[in-house]
This record gives sequence, structure tokens and C-alpha cells, in this order.
Amino acid sequence: MNAHQITVPAVIYAGEGSIEQLRDIIRAERAKTILVFTDKGIRSYGLSARVEAICAEEGTLKVVDDLTAEPAVSDIERVLHEVEGDHPDLVVGLGGGSVMDAAKLASILIGADYTLHDLLVDATIAKKQVRSVMIPTTCGTGSEATCNAIVAIPEESSKKGIVNSCMISDYVILDVTMIAQLPPKIIAATGVDALAHCVECYTSKKATMLSDPYAKEGARKIFHNIRRAFSTAGDLAAKQEMLLGAYYGGIAITGSGTTAVHALSYPLGGKYHIAHGVSNAILFAHVMEFNKDACADRLAELCDAVFPELAGKSVEEKADYIIAEIAAIVRDTEIPTSLEEFGIQPEDIDFLVTAGSQQTRLLVNNCKELSLDDIRYIYKKVL
Ligand SMILES: NC(=O)c1ccc[n+]([C@@H]2O[C@H](COP(=O)([O-])OP(=O)(O)OC[C@H]3O[C@@H](n4cnc5c(N)ncnc54)[C@H](O)[C@@H]3O)[C@@H](O)[C@H]2O)c1
Ligand SMILES: [Zn+2]
Repeated sequence: MNAHQITVPAVIYAGEGSIEQLRDIIRAERAKTILVFTDKGIRSYGLSARVEAICAEEGTLKVVDDLTAEPAVSDIERVLHEVEGDHPDLVVGLGGGSVMDAAKLASILIGADYTLHDLLVDATIAKKQVRSVMIPTTCGTGSEATCNAIVAIPEESSKKGIVNSCMISDYVILDVTMIAQLPPKIIAATGVDALAHCVECYTSKKATMLSDPYAKEGARKIFHNIRRAFSTAGDLAAKQEMLLGAYYGGIAITGSGTTAVHALSYPLGGKYHIAHGVSNAILFAHVMEFNKDACADRLAELCDAVFPELAGKSVEEKADYIIAEIAAIVRDTEIPTSLEEFGIQPEDIDFLVTAGSQQTRLLVNNCKELSLDDIRYIYKKVL
């Protein structure tokens, strides 16, 4: 049998001003008590004002905003403890991947008879407890579409993904006004993260006929819009395309899976606290170059979808073009291209190789097997 499956959020709103649809969602859900997860930064930029106003007009609102970026298990436990005893009818995640992951975990943990630690051991036991709405304020993780929540495990200096399709949100709002003021640096890092989702998922061993169209279209949108979204604050058309591209990347993750870029990136975030998008960006072109002989045909197909003007080129040339374009985007959007500025030294490589090789959940998806020497080779290239 060769049956494929993909689970996607049920209702999606997109476009400038679509945040107003939150009112319809609350009414459709007959939600009386609404729990909004966000962070202090987002709140201070005024991004949560409209969401809070709508929720407060429609019911009883509780806001949790003391979330840290790239949360650890203990951070999630702390915020869950804060809402213990609350019985929300709806959970809203308004923020980047860090906030949305926390909100998604809340949607399966509030009122449950299992704990976050239980899920770290076996995530298959999870069940949706509270329906959820995700509203991204970065254009990267695609967490609004995925079945994953990523938590840092400081004692292992790494991160772990909790995966269960019951975490997929019930509603998504992709309103460009949420990223209109996003600093260019965050647009760049989160945008390259989203591009990595699309390219990794397209070249993943787990890619299917259901994930491919999302990966391709997400890549096309991001390749063509990231520079404009980065350099022109007022280019809302490019930014809306970025939001959609990131969302498609999230669906691609659910249907397929990321590969060695994300696997080798986790220890860089977990131990050295390099932002997720930045560590992926540093590794991205190098991992693709390493993978190229095993996935040149897939990279060439992507090239056909994204840059149809190169149709006459060979498979090899098209694969090279995609990889060169990834490297150029990282440079043009001023993301660091090596680990140098993060103080990582040659003596750190042993730790990175061991920790990176333990990310087997993602490494098994990579089109080419990576030996310990291969992993060492890649980390050395980005030192
Ligand atoms: N669940 C998934 O499928 C998935 C996929 C990839 C990554 N992740 C996780 O997501 C997290 C990273 O998320 P992220 O890259 O979106 O960043 P983030 O959520 O960590 O936010 C980064 C910073 O940007 C700020 N910010 C967010 N929106 C803003 C806005 N509109 N204007 C100004 N500042 C804003 C935040 O306050 C924060 O300080 C990591 O923990 C990563 O592991 C999850
Ligand atoms: Zn990612």
C-alpha cells in the first residue's frame, strides 16, 4: 500500500485586517473564556491590543505574556501552572514560534491527565483538550500549521520536538499587519527558516504527493519575496506572501519532515542559544551542497517551479542554482554566515557532532545518510 496522509488546520483566514475574523471564531466556538498566549515584546509593540479588545468584548479574557523566546520545558511548565484551574473554551497563540508552541502545548495539556514530561516520553498519548487559534507575528516557523511543538532541554543542551497531529490548530489567521513592523533582522532569520522548511521537506525521504505542492509553492513565495520584505518596510504585498510561504512550509513539515539542516541546528540553539532561524541559515546551503548528489533531481524540480526561466539548464546546473540562491539570500539579508561571531571554537565540535548525531528523528528523513565524520565535516565548514 502506498497511501499518504496530511492533516491541516480546519479554517484559515488571510489578508490585511483578517485579525477581525477572531470575533467570528469566538462566536462560532461559543467561547466564553479565552486564554491568549503572547510575549511581552509583542504586547509592547501594540500587536496584541486588537486581539485583547475583541476577546474582552466577546467573553472573559486571560493573557499569559511572560513567555521566553525558545522556551525550555520548565518555562512551559511555569506558564501552564499559571493557568491551572482555568477552564478556557479557546486558546489563542499570538506570536512567533515560541509563543505558538507554548499555546499549542497548552491546548493539549490544560485539563489533561498526563503531563508535559509524559509527552516527552510518548507524545502519542496526547489529545486535544481546548480548541485553538494561531496568529503568527513572525514569518518563519509555520508552527500555526504544524503538529509540532519544540522545547529546549537545557540539561541535554539541545531541543526536542513533541509531535502529535492533535496539536494542529483549528483556526489560523495570517494577517500581514502582524508582521508589518517586524524588524528586518527577524524577517530575515524567520524567513530563511521557512525556506529551509520548504526545501528540506521537498528533498526529505518523507516527501509525498501531498506535501510536495505546499513545499514547492512555499519555496516559490519565499525565494521571490524575502529580499523585498527584508529591505522595504512598507512592502505589505511581499510580507503577506512571506506569511503564506511560512504557513505552506508548516504544512509541508506536517506532511513530510525537515532533515539534516534542522537536525544539526538544534544543538546550536539548545547550547549556544543561537536563534533558530539563524542557526538554520548558517547550515542551510552547506547541508544542501552535501546532500546534492542524492537529491539533485528534486532540487532541479524545485528550480523549475521557482525559476521557470532556467528550464533549459541541466539538472546539475539547476540544483547548483538553488543552493547558490540560498547562500545569496543569507548574505543579502545580512544573516551571519558562520558560527565565528557566536564564540564557538574548534574544541566545541566534538559536543556538536555528538549532539547533532542524536537528532535521529530528523536525520532519518535526510536523503543521504550522515556519518559522524560527515557531521563533523559540515560543522567544520561553518566554524
Ligand atoms: N512548532 C514548529 O513546527 C516549529 C518549527 C520551527 C521552529 N519552531 C520553534 O519556534 C521558535 C522560534 O520562533 P520564531 O523564530 O518565530 O521566533 P520567536 O517566537 O522566538 O520570537 C523571536 C523574537 O521576536 C519577537 N517578535 C515576534 N513577533 C514580532 C513582531 N511582529 N514584531 C516585533 N518583534 C516580534 C518576539 O518577541 C521575540 O523576542 C523556536 O523555539 C523554534 O524551535 C517551532
Ligand atoms: Zn525551523
